[in-house]
Amino acid sequence: MKKALITGITGQDGYYLTKLLLKKGYEVHGIVRRNSQNSIGNLRYLSEEEREQITLHWGDITDNLFIDNVMKTVQPDEVYHLAAQSFVGFSFENPKFTYDVNIGGTLNMVNAVKEYSPSSRFYFAATSELYGKVQEVPQRETTPFYPRSPYGVSKLAGFWTVKNYRESYDLFMSNGILFNHESPMRGPEFVTRKITLAVARIYYNLQDCLELGNLNAKRDWGFAGDYVYGMWKMLQHSKPDDFVLATNETHTVREFAEEAFKVVGIDIEWEGEGVNEIGRDANSGKILVKVNPKYFRPCEVDLLIGDYSKAKRELGWEPKTKFKDLVKMMVEADLERVANGLKG
Ligand code: NAP
Ligand code: GDD
Repeated sequence: MKKALITGITGQDGYYLTKLLLKKGYEVHGIVRRNSQNSIGNLRYLSEEEREQITLHWGDITDNLFIDNVMKTVQPDEVYHLAAQSFVGFSFENPKFTYDVNIGGTLNMVNAVKEYSPSSRFYFAATSELYGKVQEVPQRETTPFYPRSPYGVSKLAGFWTVKNYRESYDLFMSNGILFNHESPMRGPEFVTRKITLAVARIYYNLQDCLELGNLNAKRDWGFAGDYVYGMWKMLQHSKPDDFVLATNETHTVREFAEEAFKVVGIDIEWEGEGVNEIGRDANSGKILVKVNPKYFRPCEVDLLIGDYSKAKRELGWEPKTKFKDLVKMMVEADLERVANGLKG
């Protein structure tokens, strides 16, 4: 039985990856940081049977003694390093904390592999945020990087740390340059989930209006369930390498919101520009979307669209879920959650 160690197991990707690896018969170990509620994040949505199969190790990736110990004890065949301060907006307010977790934590992970489990195959969650102010459209593995946030800079350091350990010590370490991927397990602060939750709450009259920042930002949004399969494929490959996973489609935040309201039968009509732009229910005239500058970022990534042809060619990976189906899946999940909340 193969053993996998997942950092960030309580997050969105941790949830889908755990399900995938359990289904494939892996012994799954996960790192969870302690909190006062003993909360296990998205793992609470696993079945009891699935949860019982996971071994949790309680600690923080910034603690190298803890990480060394876990690596020595578990001796995993595969390590999926997903843990990070992953919210770009927050990274502008807390750059030091973001660097400590994303750079320091990643260094602790690769070093523990080198010292205590050098035959482990290692996956690092790099990101399309590395491309930031894009130097080429679409973005591929060879596109020069230009990060635009402390988060992006921290992940760039992680990317090069992984590549440097791979080349220096002949370790199997791969970078997944993943474009935005979403799901009903997405944290509510990210724009897609913020929108789908608001649509559900507006539908049930629990909220009047949705306030957003930059409606013009374009993202290449895929489904997290498809992307964790790509992570796994990278570690089954004949050699360690860096791969883009994306859909090769891009949509604005405005389009995502429009599509999400459509799922509950509301057509949005837009008027005005910039901070004065509003979205009205085309039927009732009610204002449902407003712009609030507090959600603007000091530096924005305007356009992301990825070319995943290398992953397709070498790993046989392709995204399965289309944009409209993803939006529908997320709105429907939030409608159900809000309705269940109302029932008590
Ligand atoms: P997420 O939902 O925010 O999950 C992040 C995970 O990291 C959580 O389990 C969190 O634990 C854990 N974590 C944070 N700081 C930690 C620390 N100091 N010690 C131990 N664990 C810590 O992120 P995601 O969307 O699943 O993304 C997974 C990874 O892929 C992240 O590294 C992210 O930056 C990267 N990425 C994501 C996307 C995307 O679109 N989703 C795209 C490209 C790259 P808590 O539950 O305790 O907070
Ligand atoms: N969060 C948020 N909230 N974003 C908003 C809002 C809002 O109210 N209004 C507009 N946006 C815009 C942001 O300015 C950004 O351009 C876009 O929506 C997407 O923002 P997020 O959903 O927060 O995601 P992100 O693209 O910044 O980062 C995510 O994707 C990266 C991969 O490209 C995260 O998952 C990162 O961890 C990941 O690396």
